[in-house]
Amino acid sequence: MSVFSKLIINIKVKKMRKLIFILFMVYAATAFTQTVVKNLNTWKFAKGEYNSAASISFNDAVWELVTVPHDWAIYGPFDKDIDKQVVKIEQNNEKTATEKTGRTGALPFIGVGWYRTKVSLPEFTTHKQAILSFDGAMSNAQVFVNGVKVGNHPYGYSYFYFDITSYLKQGAENVIAVRLENNSFSSRWYPGAGLYRKVKIIVKNNASFKQWAHYITTPFVTSDVAKVNIKSQVQGDSLTIKTIIRDAEGKVVAENNTSDRFADEIEQNIGVKNPRLWSPETPYLYAAELRLYQGNTLKDTETVRFGIRTIKYSAEKGFELNGKVTKFKGVCLHHDLGPLGTAINKAALKHQLTILKDLGCNAIRSSHNMPSFEQLELCDEMGLLFLAESFDEWKKPKVKNGYNLYFDEWAEKDVVTLVRATRNHPCIVMWSSGNEVPDQWGEAGVKRAKWLQDIFHREDPTRPVTVGMDQVKAVMENGFGAIMDIPGLNYRVHLYEDAYKRFPQGFLLGSETASTVSSRGVYKFPVVSQKDKTYDDLQCSSYDMEYCSWSNLPDDDFVMQDDKPWVIGEFVWTGFDYLGEPTPYDNFWPSRSSYFGMCDLAGLPKDRYYLYRSRWNTKDETLHILPHWTWPGREGQTTPVFVYTNYKSAELFVNGKSQGIQKKNDITKQNRYRLMWMNVKYEPGTIKVVAYDNTGKPVAEQSVTTAGKPYALKLDTDRKTINADGEDLSYVTVTIVDKNGNPCPTASNQLQFKTKGVGKFRAVCNGDATSLEQFHSPVMKAFSGKVVVLVQSSNTDGNIELTVSGKGLKTEKIALYSR
Ligand code: GAL
Repeated sequence: MSVFSKLIINIKVKKMRKLIFILFMVYAATAFTQTVVKNLNTWKFAKGEYNSAASISFNDAVWELVTVPHDWAIYGPFDKDIDKQVVKIEQNNEKTATEKTGRTGALPFIGVGWYRTKVSLPEFTTHKQAILSFDGAMSNAQVFVNGVKVGNHPYGYSYFYFDITSYLKQGAENVIAVRLENNSFSSRWYPGAGLYRKVKIIVKNNASFKQWAHYITTPFVTSDVAKVNIKSQVQGDSLTIKTIIRDAEGKVVAENNTSDRFADEIEQNIGVKNPRLWSPETPYLYAAELRLYQGNTLKDTETVRFGIRTIKYSAEKGFELNGKVTKFKGVCLHHDLGPLGTAINKAALKHQLTILKDLGCNAIRSSHNMPSFEQLELCDEMGLLFLAESFDEWKKPKVKNGYNLYFDEWAEKDVVTLVRATRNHPCIVMWSSGNEVPDQWGEAGVKRAKWLQDIFHREDPTRPVTVGMDQVKAVMENGFGAIMDIPGLNYRVHLYEDAYKRFPQGFLLGSETASTVSSRGVYKFPVVSQKDKTYDDLQCSSYDMEYCSWSNLPDDDFVMQDDKPWVIGEFVWTGFDYLGEPTPYDNFWPSRSSYFGMCDLAGLPKDRYYLYRSRWNTKDETLHILPHWTWPGREGQTTPVFVYTNYKSAELFVNGKSQGIQKKNDITKQNRYRLMWMNVKYEPGTIKVVAYDNTGKPVAEQSVTTAGKPYALKLDTDRKTINADGEDLSYVTVTIVDKNGNPCPTASNQLQFKTKGVGKFRAVCNGDATSLEQFHSPVMKAFSGKVVVLVQSSNTDGNIELTVSGKGLKTEKIALYSR
């Protein structure tokens, strides 16, 4: 190489360096002059009371190092005496108090817990504001910065923040301490414990957007153009907003600049041409990038995702989304994520929602509290309508230490927060101000219903409000039901007709339905429809014929949904089993989680999942046989066979012998929705079902075979490759199989789990509501032949191997990848 060309290269390298330096300075300048958001993930934690834990000098060296989101109680152990409630649940028509163990999950969530973290904030200089925000903290949070109390927030489910500008020290380390306290008799289910959602510090200019500043609506939508209205709350003088709207591909579709301001609000109306509408089938999202300038200086930038869609509720058509009549095929979900407890994890939420999409479900109700932001983001992206609920209790208690203690002081603030923090999610199409509140009785409650609904309307005039009402006779009499935008009935199908006539709205929503109970893979004989049925093994039958005294079978709801056009849909109790509320075994230890789910606590579909899928999933075939066919000792006994299918008729064969054709018909409710062969005699072998189309042509078949002894393991995963972000999860389903690969439906072998490589064993769950094994130790018995293992990525790319073994079983491995 000549000296000359070397010189040129040198000059180029120098220029490059200079350019990189300039780019870095520009980046640093913007990073430091604009908003900086810091997730506070790493904390020290201790359970118990520590008098001086808030002070700067407190020594937390021996405290546990934890990652937030964190649920301190999910690690157990289960204990019968935790929050043992000797109560009579009036809402369940109980007349005498009984000892309820496991009502809140029997996990150690009660008591005081402290979190401490130290944070340096070089971004925090003069003319800066700092916000400390909590997406949720369970519960009774008291927050301290550098030893000084900045505020408190009692309700564990709501989002809250504090302006901590005057509490912070510039150029020094700051100590943040949070004291939480959970009381006994404060919940009807497992609430979790701790900083179970994200905690952030936001440092921004004094001239900036306020917290949850933006409110984006689409008040006018045609196929040619949508009017996008953006209201933004700002602070500071001489401000201009420059807005860029991008489509889902990132292409700029509209721009706008404005300085017009009224008080602290800047409002814009921006046209988007040929808008692509958001719906469950096409969850199309736009993004508005909002840049805030003071003079010519960029002070703040926020990007808000939104959808363009219209919603309308009317007596003529019920619910219309984008002008199309849409029925809610919804499920109620509690906030826990089974073996992960309540610590929020986006991969776990996505796993749930993926299962629900396959079910054909189009809507979720966050029962009975504020949803996580992560869940709403996913519902926007994946296309699920959302009923965002706020409270399970108003002023009249359901549980002694429930929200009734806070209602007067906090209800308005909590509703305002819910709406302001989530109103830009297109998935939310309805608010709920309460669930089965005892305030349904009496005049004061009617006033409260109106008061809360008015707050929702004031904050968000675009969405209606419901309450899940179970005291239907009372609310028909006292006007409570007539007030609601959407009359939501919990159960009480026998009163639907009456309520429809009495209420002025002209339509009804099944805000909570069914509460049918079952245990995955467990079948009881004889097969009869029964309420409040209990068995010695503390399981419920998966023939899906058992329900509670206040509830009903899915089929009862289906009749209403199909025959009454004024019923706008349903939210089934529940999509997944959850921790706590082990009805019908509230009084029976060791039951500690629910039996209501279409899927069990491990996320595995029960038979009932396929009953709903056969109606809701109109794209894919459903042909599901129950029960399993391994019944040593039942030879010659009547063993009914049910088939859940989208086809109208099917023929059943037992070892090749026809048991006849069954057709869906209206003779009984069940015959209308299930194909049932009630007189089949058990003999080992294979049962096969052949489905026929409307012309009588065989179109699909399924079979189930009697299993031999447990011999090996089969491992299947929902995702072989997960993200190397330290949070992502692969759900590995382990099935115990016989020599021929047939699943062993009653196997309960104890299994061990080991991981190698760049991931770790995170948790395990078998879906058994009576199991006291801990989710976080890598040993668990199979339940109905299965367990689900959660493997978590680290921050490193590479391979992960999960090995599952059990005595007398062939060990099996599965290779996973983290990228
Ligand atoms: C409802 C209640 C739910 C759950 C369910 C069980 O009355 O709203 O939270 O308790 O019953 O069936």
